Amino acid sequence: MKKITISTLLAKKQRGEKITSLTAYDASFAKVFDEAGVDAMLVGDSLGMVLQGQDDTLNVTVEDIAYHTRAVRKGTERAFVLADMPFMSYATPENAYQNAAVLMAAGASMVKLEGGQWLCSTIEGLVERSVPVCAHIGLTPQSVHVLGGFKIQGREANKAQQLVNDAKALEQAGVQLLVLECVPSSLGRQIAGQLSIPVIGIGAGNGTDGQILVMHDMLGVSANYMPKFSKNYLAETGNLHRAVEQYIKQVKSGEFPGPEHSFE
Ligand code: KIV
Repeated sequence: MKKITISTLLAKKQRGEKITSLTAYDASFAKVFDEAGVDAMLVGDSLGMVLQGQDDTLNVTVEDIAYHTRAVRKGTERAFVLADMPFMSYATPENAYQNAAVLMAAGASMVKLEGGQWLCSTIEGLVERSVPVCAHIGLTPQSVHVLGGFKIQGREANKAQQLVNDAKALEQAGVQLLVLECVPSSLGRQIAGQLSIPVIGIGAGNGTDGQILVMHDMLGVSANYMPKFSKNYLAETGNLHRAVEQYIKQVKSGEFPGPEHSFE
C-alpha cells in the first residue's frame, strides 16, 4: 500500500483526479477511512464542536490537537494526515514554530493555519524550517466573532477578489495545500483554476480539486446542526463502511457536492 504524500495530492490535481478528505479524531475511525481509501485526514479544531460540544472552535488547545493527532496517526497507514493549529497558536511566528513542532512530532505530515496575506511571513518561516503548510481561507471558523457568525464569504466582488489575492499570496509564500470554506461555487472553481497547488473545498462547490467534510456531519451525528454543504451518507447507505465508500465515489465522480450542497 503506497503512502499518500503531498506529491501524490499534487499529481492528482494535475491529472484532474478529485482528492477525498475527511476529518478524523481517533484511531478507530481513522482506520476505517484509511482502509476505504480516503486520501487525506484532518485532525481539525472542529473537534471543539463535534467532540467537546462547544459552540465554536476557540477553546481547542495545541495539546488537544496533539492528543488526537497521535491517535489518528496510530490508525493510519496510507492517508496523508494534517493537524489544525488552534486559535492563537500561531499569533506570532515564534508561537507558530513551537506549536507546529509539537503537532509534527505528534504525527502530522502538515499543519493547517487559518488566514490570508497577514500569515505569509509566518508561513515562509515555517516552510524554511521544513514544516509543510496548508492554509484555510473563506469562512475561517476561528474568526467567527469577527465575521459575525458562520457565514458564506466572497459574495461581493471586492471580497471575492481579496480571496483570490490571498490564495495567490499564500501559494507564493510556500503553502502546498489550500482549504477553501463556504464560498460561491464560481469562486471555488476560479481559485482552484488559478493555483498550481491543490485546493480542497468545503461548501465551495464542485470546481475545487477535492472535498473535505467533518466526519460527524457526513455521518449525521453532529451534536449541533447539519450544514447545507454537508450530506448524511450514513442515512443514505445505512452502514459506516458503505457511507465512506459512497462519499469517496461521489466526490471522485463530481456528483458531490451537487447544487443543493453549494452556494451561488
Ligand atoms: O476544523 C476542521 O474540521 C476544519 C475543516 C472544516 C476544514 O477546518
